[in-house]
Amino acid sequence: MGTATRGQWAAGGPHFDLGAFEDLANSIPVGITIARWEDRSDRVKFRYVWVNDHALSLARAHDSAPIEQFLGKTLDEAFPELVESEVPDKYVAAMQTGQSQVIAVLPYAGESYEIRVAPMSTDLIVVTYVNVRDRVRAEQARDSLVEELRRSNEELDQFAHIAAHDLKAPLRNLASLAGWVAEDLPAEQLPDGTRRHLELMKSVVRRMENLLDDLMLYARAGRGEPEPSRFTMAALVDSVRGSCGLQPGFELVVPEAPLLLTAIRTPLELVLRNLISNAARHHDRPAGRIELSFDAPGDDILSFSVADDGPGIPQEHHGRAFEMFTRLQPSEDGGTGAGLALVKKTVEARGGAVTLQSQGRGTTVHFTWPGSVHAQ
Ligand SMILES: Nc1ncnc2c1ncn2[C@@H]1O[C@H](COP(=O)(O)OP(=O)(O)OP(=O)(O)O)[C@@H](O)[C@H]1O
Ligand SMILES: [Mg+2]
Repeated sequence: MGTATRGQWAAGGPHFDLGAFEDLANSIPVGITIARWEDRSDRVKFRYVWVNDHALSLARAHDSAPIEQFLGKTLDEAFPELVESEVPDKYVAAMQTGQSQVIAVLPYAGESYEIRVAPMSTDLIVVTYVNVRDRVRAEQARDSLVEELRRSNEELDQFAHIAAHDLKAPLRNLASLAGWVAEDLPAEQLPDGTRRHLELMKSVVRRMENLLDDLMLYARAGRGEPEPSRFTMAALVDSVRGSCGLQPGFELVVPEAPLLLTAIRTPLELVLRNLISNAARHHDRPAGRIELSFDAPGDDILSFSVADDGPGIPQEHHGRAFEMFTRLQPSEDGGTGAGLALVKKTVEARGGAVTLQSQGRGTTVHFTWPGSVHAQ
């Protein structure tokens, strides 16, 4: 149970001078009215007996409910339209439970006011009008951001769908057409240059297909699989090693300790696979050493790093390496330059961070991932 803190009287109860209370109530930027419940058997017989200066100035700025008109009247006389609403019930609830009740947040004189009732004594109730403009604006800004985000996610989904299906079909046709052109001409009539160009055309189509696949992965990164699962470090490493196709010359050094992890697994594998295959594919020698290290810097945070002994990445390219479709070296390895962008988006979508270190030879990419670890 939480311990609520509220203002209270010292032993001996309230001793105060009404004049001083009025001065105080008139000096604060909160509208206050006090009503007396004259007949406890009637939910609307609350008579407004006092208003402070701020409530008066609010009323003057708002013609439809001049406070002068309701001062001295009962709730039903002053606001006949509220008799059937839940407003009188809130007054009664405040008096009966001793708990303050929020009546509404209303636009008033260009601002937003929260109207609240709270019991003052056995027959008096206080109604307060607090300007909550900043809170309401913050809530509206948050709601519209959430809506914008939802819309842009939806658009991204549609876009990914178009990329996946609609754009790929004509691409495949293009590749088939290139094949048919080659078949239609007798082999001896097909000049070497044309044959080479037709082959090139097919490989450009393949590359475009890869770009589209990666674009789709990128669009969807960070969504799906919200639930963590439990798996061993060994199973994680096996699965990543199996799917990143390391060439025989490369040694992958992995954490030895028998560990049990609880984390969101599939995107974690995607990140590790990209980093480990980068370490091998962008190596400048046929053999190398790649080291995967692991740590748990906090109770619910894991950290991984993938270090290699390859050529390194010059400092001035560290930022660019994470941009979508950016490759730092021309290469024929079929990559599209999407890997590190995908890594960054995937990690950041889970609240983690990625950093790259490289000075001279060797590159280390370090990232954090939400999760916990237990000894096996
Ligand atoms: N470990 C590394 N050592 C040296 N250079 C690297 C390393 N990792 C990435 N790079 C450089 O950064 C560029 C961007 O990497 P990224 O993973 O985004 O794309 P890619 O590997 O070229 O293609 P893809 O990942 O889409 O197959 C690479 O093209 C490469 O030049
Ligand atoms: Mg890559």
